[in-house]
Amino acid sequence: MAVNLKTYFTQYRDRVETALDQWLPGDNIHPAHLHEAMRYSTFNGGKRVRPLLVYLTGDALEIPTKQLDGPACAIELIHSYSLVHDDLPAMDDDDLRRGKPTCHKAYDEATAILVGDGLQALAFHILASDDSMVNDATARLRMCALLAHSSGSRGMVGGQAIDLAATGKSLTLAELQDMHIHKTGALIRTSVMLAAYSKPDLDTSSIENLDHYAKCIGLNFQIKDDILDIEGETETLGKPQGSDLNANKPTYPAIVGMDEAKRMMNDLHQEALESLSQLGDKADPLRDLAEYIISRKY
Ligand code: IPE
Ligand code: IPE
Ligand code: MG
Ligand code: MG
Ligand code: MG
Repeated sequence: MAVNLKTYFTQYRDRVETALDQWLPGDNIHPAHLHEAMRYSTFNGGKRVRPLLVYLTGDALEIPTKQLDGPACAIELIHSYSLVHDDLPAMDDDDLRRGKPTCHKAYDEATAILVGDGLQALAFHILASDDSMVNDATARLRMCALLAHSSGSRGMVGGQAIDLAATGKSLTLAELQDMHIHKTGALIRTSVMLAAYSKPDLDTSSIENLDHYAKCIGLNFQIKDDILDIEGETETLGKPQGSDLNANKPTYPAIVGMDEAKRMMNDLHQEALESLSQLGDKADPLRDLAEYIISRKY
């Protein structure tokens, strides 16, 4: 990993975790058992890639960092909720997440459902009420609408529905791409756009370029996740290697083969870099993050 990116990962992980700790009700607050489980599912060694994207995009656009904490927390809460539900027996039925028992294993299924619901609601509460965010009501409403769209049935949840319907079946490449763009791409893209919306006077061309960058790395994030299901190791991944294979999930390596999956990932990587050309040196950390997404080991 590029040296600077490593520093950003540490710095912004600590920052978003401090902010999340302030927003999440304490595990002594009624109903304490639920709040404890919400904290268990949030503070468990996630990489915090989506918050990092919020912060690095904001840095490239010279947005004050304190305006980015709210969006960074909101996107990570939605993501953490999606993982809790993704692991449930009715979905991927996995026992290990971020190196620890999944929420329904550590607690129970009903608690895991409620944890997801609670984390999701908190995300929108933050976007609507964080005093440190951009002081522009229209921009704030756009952020709420974007997060609602990208996490709902036209975004992540829709992608999860496509995934479940496709399990055990074969998909065309176009269908597979559509599934990945929804289930994973939507939240990655939103991470970038929440930062962009924090600068209400940002020009259209910068918005379009950032959006295209985010689309490319969002798809690459899930292609790499599919590859790691085969090439990774459970201990490093913190989740069970081979889960997709066992469940007969349509993945990039399963549909197009490993070599072609990697070739497609590299093409998308080049496209992502091209989208950043207008942003100059300020976008170097975003370039490093695109590289990290395709080279990561977990
Ligand atoms: C895993 O996401 C689920 C996908 C969308 C592929 P991450 O790899 O970002 O998981 P954490 O947050 O680091 O655990
Ligand atoms: C996860 O896809 C996408 C969401 C949670 C929205 P996966 O099912 O591939 O994620 P992992 O591999 O369990 O982390
Ligand atoms: Mg899944
Ligand atoms: Mg899964
Ligand atoms: Mg996966």
